[in-house]
Amino acid sequence: MVTYTSALVTGASSGIGQSLARCLAAQGTGVVVVARRGDRLERLAEELRGRSGASVEVLAADLCVPEDLATVTKRLTDPDRPIDLLVNNAGAGSRPPRPLADQPLDHELGKVELNVLAPLRLTHAALSVMIPRRHGGILNVSSIAGFLPQPQGATYAATKAFLTSMTETVHCEARKSGVHATVVCPGFVRRGEGGADGGMRSVRLPEFVWLDRDEVAREAIRAVCAGKPVCIPGWQYRTAITLSRVLPRVLSRRGFERLWGH
Ligand SMILES: NC(=O)c1ccc[n+]([C@@H]2O[C@H](COP(=O)([O-])OP(=O)(O)OC[C@H]3O[C@@H](n4cnc5c(N)ncnc54)[C@H](OP(=O)(O)O)[C@@H]3O)[C@@H](O)[C@H]2O)c1
Repeated sequence: MVTYTSALVTGASSGIGQSLARCLAAQGTGVVVVARRGDRLERLAEELRGRSGASVEVLAADLCVPEDLATVTKRLTDPDRPIDLLVNNAGAGSRPPRPLADQPLDHELGKVELNVLAPLRLTHAALSVMIPRRHGGILNVSSIAGFLPQPQGATYAATKAFLTSMTETVHCEARKSGVHATVVCPGFVRRGEGGADGGMRSVRLPEFVWLDRDEVAREAIRAVCAGKPVCIPGWQYRTAITLSRVLPRVLSRRGFERLWGH
C-alpha cells in the first residue's frame, strides 16, 4: 500500500469530492480543495482543520476557464509544495436527461471541457512532475456510464468512456515509474446537500442501486493506495459490469437502455 501526503481534489465543494477530501484529511493527508464555490470550500476547510488537524488549502477555480485551470495546474506542479495525489473528481452529469439532438450544443461542449479536457490537462501536468520523482497517484472519477451507451446522456457517457480508457492506459504506462493511476466508476450515488440539480433523489429507482458517497470515497482511496487500475464500488455494479462483458453486446445494450429508462 502506498501512502500519500498531499492531495489536490477537484470538485470538493459537494458530493463525492467532499467525501474524498474528508476521507483523505481523516487519514492525515494534506488537501488542496478546488471548485467554483469558494464559500463552501472555506466551510469545508474549517471543518477539516478542526476535526483532523490536516493542512487544508482552498483554491476557488472554474476548470472551464483557461486562466483558472492554469492556476490549478501551477499549484499542482509547484516544486516547493509538492502534491503527490491528484483527484480529478469535478464533473458535469447528464441532467437534464435528453436525447443529444435536443441538447443545446454549448451545454454538451461544456461537459467535454469539464469531464475530458480539464482532467486530461491535469493528468498530463501531474505525470510531468510525478514520474521524475518516481512517486505519485492519480485518481480519476468516472462512471459506469462509460461502459455502455446511456440514452439521454450521450455526451456524459462518452466523456466517462474517455476518462476510463485514458486512466487505464496511463496506469499501464506509468506504474513502472512508481506512479499509480486509478479510475473509479460509480453507479448511482446520493450526492447529498449542495450537489448539482439538488441531487438525484427525485429519480425513482430501487433502493439497492443507490451508493453512499462516503463509502464510494473510501473504496476509491483504498484502490489508488493499493495501485489498482479500476475500482467499481458496490456488488450490484460489479455484477452488472461483469455480466455486460460476457453477454452479447446487443443484450447488455438493451439492459442499459432499460436501466436508463429509455
Ligand atoms: N452522483 C452520481 O450518481 C455519480 C455517479 C457516477 C459518477 N459520478 C461522478 O462523480 C463526480 C462528482 O459528482 P457528484 O455526483 O458528487 O456531483 P456534485 O455534488 O454536483 O459535485 C460536482 C463537483 O464538481 C464541481 N464543479 C462543477 N463544475 C465545475 C467547474 N466548472 N470548475 C470546477 N469545479 C466544478 C462542483 O463544485 P462548484 O459547483 O462549486 O464548482 C462540485 O464540487 C463527477 O465526475 C460525476 O460525473 C457521479
